Amino acid sequence: MIRRTLIAGNWKMNGLSASAVEVNAIADGAPNGVDLLICPPATLIASLANRGVPIGGQNCHSEVKGAYTGDVSADQLADVGAVAVIVGHSERRQEYEVTDAIVCSKVPAAWGAGLTAIICVGETKEQRDHGAALDVVGAQLAGSIPDGATAANSVIAYEPVWAIGTGLVPSINDITEMHAHIRAQLAGRFAEAKGMRILYGGSLKPDNAAEILAIENVDGGLIGGASLKAEDFLAIARAA
Ligand code: 13P
Repeated sequence: MIRRTLIAGNWKMNGLSASAVEVNAIADGAPNGVDLLICPPATLIASLANRGVPIGGQNCHSEVKGAYTGDVSADQLADVGAVAVIVGHSERRQEYEVTDAIVCSKVPAAWGAGLTAIICVGETKEQRDHGAALDVVGAQLAGSIPDGATAANSVIAYEPVWAIGTGLVPSINDITEMHAHIRAQLAGRFAEAKGMRILYGGSLKPDNAAEILAIENVDGGLIGGASLKAEDFLAIARAA
């Protein structure tokens, strides 16, 4: 089954109105044959949608609406032009105590709004050093993905916590092993597992992108720091 490469940028809490120039430049330089996505802060989604680059959110609530001060629903993201939403990013798992069960409850909300859910998993350094990385990620997958996941409505992002924003990346062998493990686990549950994209994230940069994106079962990247500048983001997309 063909899986189109997806190069997704997660701007985290970066970006102001002026960042529209970056999205315009990405639209102008987008290579053929690769799907692009930019996930800016929620404040920018409305103004960045419809510029030629698909736009996504970075988080959503599990409810459609209600008394949840400061939160944003998947329907609200879709309403202003988002087509996808990241759920369970490690920064939210760590900073806001978002558990697998909470992640799992957000995914149907994303689907219900017509958004692709980008479901993040990844081990800490301590867990990897203890040889527990495969088990930890396996448990996160089991707990974070609800029944009903398809190639169209879900993307998995493997982001080792210790590789995020550190300049450290796992070895090619370790990425290969983990992505094969994720594929096998998806295959045990979902009919469309072969078509589901598995992204790698964590210090993915223009200079390591070609090597990492060529790994079997790596179907694209989720990029933080290097997604903030159109030039770097496009260099990664071209390397894919
Ligand atoms: P960096 O690319 O800055 O390491 O961030 C990765 C990430 O967390 C993307 O979601």
